[in-house]
Amino acid sequence: MKKLLLSGVFALSIAGLLLQAEVQGQVAQDWAGSYSEAQAARGEKLYGGNCAVCHGPQLLGGDRAPAVAGPALAARWQAKPLAELIDYVYLQMPLHGPGGLSRQQGADIVAFMLKKGAVAAGTADLNGGSAAPPTRTTEPLKASGFYTRAQAIRGKAAFNRNCAFCHTVDRKLFSEENNKFILPRTFGGRFIERVYHGQVLYPTVYHLFSKLQSMPAFNTKAISEQMRADITAYILENNDLPAGDEELTPDAVRMKNMILGEKGFESLFNGKDFTGMKFVVNPNCTAQPDGCGSVAPSPDLIRVEHGEIVCQCNIHGYFYWDKPYGDFTFRFEQKFEKPADWDADDKLYFGGTGALIFIAPPHRTVPRSVEIEGRYYDFGEPFLIGGKGKVEYDHDAYMKVATPVGSWDKVEIASKAGVVKTYINGALVSTLSQHDYKPGPIGMQLEGAPMRWRNLRVKVE
Ligand code: HEC
Ligand code: HEC
Repeated sequence: MKKLLLSGVFALSIAGLLLQAEVQGQVAQDWAGSYSEAQAARGEKLYGGNCAVCHGPQLLGGDRAPAVAGPALAARWQAKPLAELIDYVYLQMPLHGPGGLSRQQGADIVAFMLKKGAVAAGTADLNGGSAAPPTRTTEPLKASGFYTRAQAIRGKAAFNRNCAFCHTVDRKLFSEENNKFILPRTFGGRFIERVYHGQVLYPTVYHLFSKLQSMPAFNTKAISEQMRADITAYILENNDLPAGDEELTPDAVRMKNMILGEKGFESLFNGKDFTGMKFVVNPNCTAQPDGCGSVAPSPDLIRVEHGEIVCQCNIHGYFYWDKPYGDFTFRFEQKFEKPADWDADDKLYFGGTGALIFIAPPHRTVPRSVEIEGRYYDFGEPFLIGGKGKVEYDHDAYMKVATPVGSWDKVEIASKAGVVKTYINGALVSTLSQHDYKPGPIGMQLEGAPMRWRNLRVKVE
């Protein structure tokens, strides 16, 4: 009985071998000539950037995913039309981030898979059949002001009627001394840069506007909120801030995104849309059109609302500004959405994000770069992705300025002469030196935690 069983197993495995040999023969027969060498070469690149991480560089599979060439592939796909395999790649792969490749790119990868399985090439391409994925427009950021010229003219009329018998906008009259008087003299000149007891009084348009809410002195109800916005425009114009092509509206959140008095800073985010920003979203993917990394993520993932970037961040990736930033000061504010079940005193919130600096192509989640950690429990710590450098991180310094989860935090990353210093809420928390990174784009990570950003700006040294 035992002997019989053994020989049975033996017979089965022989049958298996035979089946495999047969399949291999049939593969060569059915699929031969269905793709071209040039196409397989294109497919090889796509495969390397988007699939190799799971299916292995030799397509042999591993712990993460099955083999996708040779007998293994044939055993499952040889009975079906190749179009179905292309569809599968196009619709299902890469696992955890499908939908980023075009059908034609799927076909190119399948061509490469066939080639690796020793299927003979032909002269014509394997046809994928569909158009390339959409790409996001990337016009440069317009240096747009916070108000329009027409609005400033309306503001002047409102000012003359309601404010001019107590104040002026005469630029020459402005000095800190003059404005310390019980009746401030002027809102012209360098008024919006006022510093009093070491603090900047009007860091954003919102702060100026909210001061105006206690004016005019004879009756704060004498003017409408829109008129206040118009007068704010008039004051901005008299502080030499250029007009733009959109009116200032009395919208607190948007006004908080309008930074004043930071000389040399350029806004990286216009508060309205993603102009000037690029995306790569989907783990294990390089960016479209070469890879499956979405460059135009859906509003369900990330959108602009009220001057803020609101991110569900449920798919990992990043957005970036595509310039070679070397010496710069990058400032922004970020806030995690506090989970409903969060204990206020818990310091171990795991929601992640991070600023990426010195990003090196190819753009892929995650690229070679320095990640300045944006996570709550080690905020500001530099992580060197694919490079070298000396990192000093002062966790105690961070803990002194840590705010409860769900608060806005201010981040400043200053890179100068090979040294990168990171400040959280004004405190120096880390220094990176002796690094081997070259100037590159800066960006921000989507890392699974719902969150917001605002006031993203940079000063190039
Ligand atoms: C994150 C890991 C991961 C990445 C990246 C990935 N795959 Fe897969 N892939 C898998 C897993 C796991 C399976 C098995 C899925 C199943 O059994 O449902 C699979 C299945 C497949 C199959 C079917 C295999 C079979 O024999 O049925 C093909 C073909 C395939 N992947 C191609 C690709 C291609 C092409 C890419 C790149 C565009 C890619 N995969 C990227 C994990 C991955
Ligand atoms: C009757 C006189 C009077 C009128 C009219 C008046 N203000 Fe004032 N304003 C004051 C006084 C007094 C102060 C100083 C006390 C304070 O800040 O409330 C002041 C302060 C201010 C400040 C702060 C100045 C600084 O140096 O930081 C601003 C801005 C301002 N006013 C704007 C306005 C605007 C805009 C109007 C018209 C809509 C207006 N005021 C109308 C009397 C007036």
